[in-house]
Amino acid sequence: MSAELSYSLNSDENSKVRSAVKRLTLVNFRNYKYLRLNLSSPFIILCGENGSGKTNVLEAISFLSQGRGLRNAKLSEIKTFDFLAKQQSSPVFINNSGWAVSAHIENNGEEFNIGTAVESVVKEFEYNEIKEVERRVVQVNNQKLSSQNELGNYISVIWVTPQMDRLFQGSSQLRRSFLDRIVYAFDVDHGRRVSSYDNLYRQWLQILKSGNINTSWLNALEGQMAEIGVAIAAARREHVQKLNNFIEQNPDDIFPDAFLSLDGTIEKMLDEKPAIYVEDFYKESLAKQRRYILFNDTNCGINKTDLCVIYKKKNVPASLCSTGEQKSLLLSIILAHAKSLFYLRGLSPILLLDEVAAHLDNMKKDAFLTKIKNLHLQAWLTTTDLFEFSNFREASQFFEVKNNTVQEVLLSEYI
Ligand SMILES: Nc1ncnc2c1ncn2[C@@H]1O[C@H](COP(=O)(O)OP(=O)(O)OP(=O)(O)O)[C@@H](O)[C@H]1O
Ligand SMILES: [Mg+2]
Repeated sequence: MSAELSYSLNSDENSKVRSAVKRLTLVNFRNYKYLRLNLSSPFIILCGENGSGKTNVLEAISFLSQGRGLRNAKLSEIKTFDFLAKQQSSPVFINNSGWAVSAHIENNGEEFNIGTAVESVVKEFEYNEIKEVERRVVQVNNQKLSSQNELGNYISVIWVTPQMDRLFQGSSQLRRSFLDRIVYAFDVDHGRRVSSYDNLYRQWLQILKSGNINTSWLNALEGQMAEIGVAIAAARREHVQKLNNFIEQNPDDIFPDAFLSLDGTIEKMLDEKPAIYVEDFYKESLAKQRRYILFNDTNCGINKTDLCVIYKKKNVPASLCSTGEQKSLLLSIILAHAKSLFYLRGLSPILLLDEVAAHLDNMKKDAFLTKIKNLHLQAWLTTTDLFEFSNFREASQFFEVKNNTVQEVLLSEYI
């Protein structure tokens, strides 16, 4: 597998990227009332002062994928608001038309448009209450998709943000969603399952909190949660195993190899018992938790599973590694994921790298970009220093982010 892989990934180092955003348009998105960028290089470097709007551009691209984007934002906080509207205690929205992101994508020679926007829909709640709610809609070539999860059939977007510098130390929620995004890139249904489970769990908690216990309704919810929960656990196990195998067979020469495992009752039980048994166990344990869940949030559900990462060569948990080592481990997982996604699914992800160079020495920084270049990926990088990535100027387009707009600049004019 390694020989074939290295051939397919490195045989033509100068060919263009396999999957890329060729044009990006933002409307009423954060600090951009309107922005259009034409892109033609593997590396898109966004340079600007703090608060100028670099991460906002990356966030817009993250909305070409399923979910709440790289900031895990609420839909309502994204629409451009007018800071200059004084005497207002809260920001004033510029207009009511919502926000939109549209992108022209090239993927292995195929071209298509992905668009996403918010729309208001009237929804009926309990007790005949009717409310207008906002939801995100997605379309490909002007055809509305039935769900955001379908975007995974067209594009994969991966990000590394400064918040992820604490991935191995922060709450398990961060690691779980990191893992679920990795699984989703391979198995589009995983995204649907995870959001269905979250929905069912919320309904279940709501009933238990209301005190208005409807046993047959709880039984039905628990049955569905157990079924979907076991499918989620099985998919996580399968992909962690695949990634470990991939890393084992394709060790990195510079970045530390990681070993991943899952700490979760359901995932562990699947090591030994058939899925049907685990599903019954899951359903029973949910029923047992009914009485305690409001006082004690610890339970055995898949929404408590943790992703454990070990620095393989040293056999040290990632959480005990130095800041730079943790960053290198994270990038090593990202590289292995990107390579295996191409090798196993023929899909090249678009990388959003927000201040990725922090905590990396110059050798590692250059090695990381060289590897991305050799993988023919498109990478969007942010920096406050225009020259930070100047070693890669041949493969880069540089943009200055300033005054709520983004202008292409020629590096040569600054030297
Ligand atoms: N809905 C919105 N409407 C208008 N402006 C917004 C909105 N949401 C955030 N902003 C503004 O966007 C700016 C932040 O942009 P962003 O986080 O992209 O900056 P940045 O260039 O990445 O900065 P840093 O270098 O500090 O990371 C802030 O000035 C913030 O007030
Ligand atoms: Mg930023």
